[in-house]
Amino acid sequence: MKQKLAYSVDNDNPAERKRFIRGTFDAISPTYDLLNRILSFGIDMRWRRFSVNIPGDLRGKRVLDTCAGTGDSSAVLTKKGAHAVSLDFSLAMLRRGVSTGRVRYPVAADASCLPFREGSFSAVTVSFGIRNIPDINVYIGEVFRVLTAGGDFVILELTRPENPVVKFFYRIYLFGLIPLIGGIISGKFTAYRYLPETIASFVDPEELRGMLEAQGFEQVRVYRKMFGVATVLHGRKAG
Ligand SMILES: C[S@@+](CC[C@H](N)C(=O)[O-])C[C@H]1O[C@@H](n2cnc3c(N)ncnc32)[C@H](O)[C@@H]1O
Repeated sequence: MKQKLAYSVDNDNPAERKRFIRGTFDAISPTYDLLNRILSFGIDMRWRRFSVNIPGDLRGKRVLDTCAGTGDSSAVLTKKGAHAVSLDFSLAMLRRGVSTGRVRYPVAADASCLPFREGSFSAVTVSFGIRNIPDINVYIGEVFRVLTAGGDFVILELTRPENPVVKFFYRIYLFGLIPLIGGIISGKFTAYRYLPETIASFVDPEELRGMLEAQGFEQVRVYRKMFGVATVLHGRKAG
């Protein structure tokens, strides 16, 4: 089945879409880290540190990094002293994370069907992954379930700036530079056309806030980064 490139919330038939997404990340895994550094100019690491600091002291606590990929955020969590479990459904991405030492406790699974008991983690994170999840409400419900009472959920995602000037240059970057550089370096042109489309069509941060609240998260906060190019959302499961 030919996949529509744009993001869409789909709680009825997410399976086909997930196959496409898993295949996409398996295919780009060899050059994923290199391209991440080139295309983000390293700014992503600053945003990761900001997100991971929101829950406060994580020393000795169990934290689940969902859609962990090659483990950039898992490594930041580990550095903070957390026991970071890295979950992803792309084995190729996880393997790279393990081989670089960033992923210590890998779990291959679908983020919308978490293989953990209720109340297993003090915090759950997702960086640049939630916009790939078609059954997003199911995913958020699962995150809520595996969190302990008082646990934190932190989302870091690429979003759309509102300032018209920034928006103009951002669209050139998104639809011109990313597909070109990503396509040339990885050799996977479809994948690097898909990724910008998901950013352009993903729900906006306020809608995402509503989704978190609808699943029971409280005190949801939204932090815009770099004119809204990225957004961090934080919600807490009532204690
Ligand atoms: C853009 S990468 C982000 C990886 C990493 N978090 C980072 O910050 O670099 C998105 C990751 O989400 C994973 N992913 C997407 N949908 C998923 C799902 N439903 N379950 C588990 N992993 C998923 C993909 O395999 C991919 O590794």
